[in-house]
Amino acid sequence: MEEKNRKIILTGDRPTGKLHVGHYVGSLRQRVELQNSGKFDEIYIMIADAQALTDNADNPEKVRQNIIEVALDYLSCGLDPERSTLFIQSQVPELTEMSFYYMNLVTVSRLQRNPTVKNEIRLRNFEASIPVGFYTYPISQAADITAFKATTVPVGDDQLPMIEQTREIVRSFNHIYDEVLVEPEALIPSNEACRRLPGIDGNAKMSKSLGNCIYLSDSPEDVKKKIMSMFTDPGHIRVQDPGKVEGNPVFIYLDAFCRDEHFSRYLPEYENLDQLKAHYMRGGLGDVKVKRFLNEVIQEELVPIRARRREYEKNIPEVYRILREGSRKAEKKAAVTLAQMKAAMKINYFDDEDLIREQARKYGGE
Ligand code: TRP
Repeated sequence: MEEKNRKIILTGDRPTGKLHVGHYVGSLRQRVELQNSGKFDEIYIMIADAQALTDNADNPEKVRQNIIEVALDYLSCGLDPERSTLFIQSQVPELTEMSFYYMNLVTVSRLQRNPTVKNEIRLRNFEASIPVGFYTYPISQAADITAFKATTVPVGDDQLPMIEQTREIVRSFNHIYDEVLVEPEALIPSNEACRRLPGIDGNAKMSKSLGNCIYLSDSPEDVKKKIMSMFTDPGHIRVQDPGKVEGNPVFIYLDAFCRDEHFSRYLPEYENLDQLKAHYMRGGLGDVKVKRFLNEVIQEELVPIRARRREYEKNIPEVYRILREGSRKAEKKAAVTLAQMKAAMKINYFDDEDLIREQARKYGGE
């Protein structure tokens, strides 16, 4: 196929912890669907360790330990190394080199306006002491995406400003130098609940530091315990009270996870989620019953994930081998793009016969 019409995916995650069900419905599940759709010519899934170090410089061990966690989460969700290239960011040095040149195309004030970075600076109390590397990670993220000429970037919606920043860098590079880079599109789940899965405590963000996550690697018992302890509508005290489904985490999770077929399997008195919601709002439906149903639905989704994880856990050296092979393949691709960039930027001195001849002529030689 012509190089120009290829459909290419790149996306990734920072290895700062195990992945949770928010990552799953927010992006991971969609990546596996895209992989299995067969509609993409190349798929790159990156463990963003270098980006993780931008706010964990003093904790390299955390990043190192979580590489395998994220890799196991990827593989157990169904990312298939035969079809998707799984790799580690730091093992592709071309990305760093690209970032260095992209830095010339972005202003400080543009970085200051990036809403994701602004928000993260607040979350990390970085106000007075932002590491330069952290501040510039949107630029490095543009390198991650453009190195592979990605057309599609499946991400959670918190990452949209990053894709916008990347598109600006692409336009600027192509305009100043030559049409080398490809403008990517973000792809986010169409289901609102999937884009914003709250923590089990009702907090808008599911995060390790808040201790409100259901991890993909949790045991069935832990998942059940967490679901049964989930925050619901605080006004729904007695079973007969009318309840609210809007903003109610249990129903948001059902919006993200449940399908009509789950009702015939686990709760045949209802045909679908709308009927269940209507009953809850009318009153007469207890939280425990809804939570038990949610537990069945989520456990069912996690069964194949757990089974694949157990297989890969038995062969950890194989997982590292997959990452090493993937990193090698990713580097090859990035090197091609970098060579094209350097030619466009006219910093390919030794490949440029014309330059050598021209300089020779200037000095009176051949
Ligand atoms: N910033 C992303 C996150 O925190 C991880 C990431 C790094 C990424 N480089 C990327 C995602 C490139 C998509 C494309 O989850």
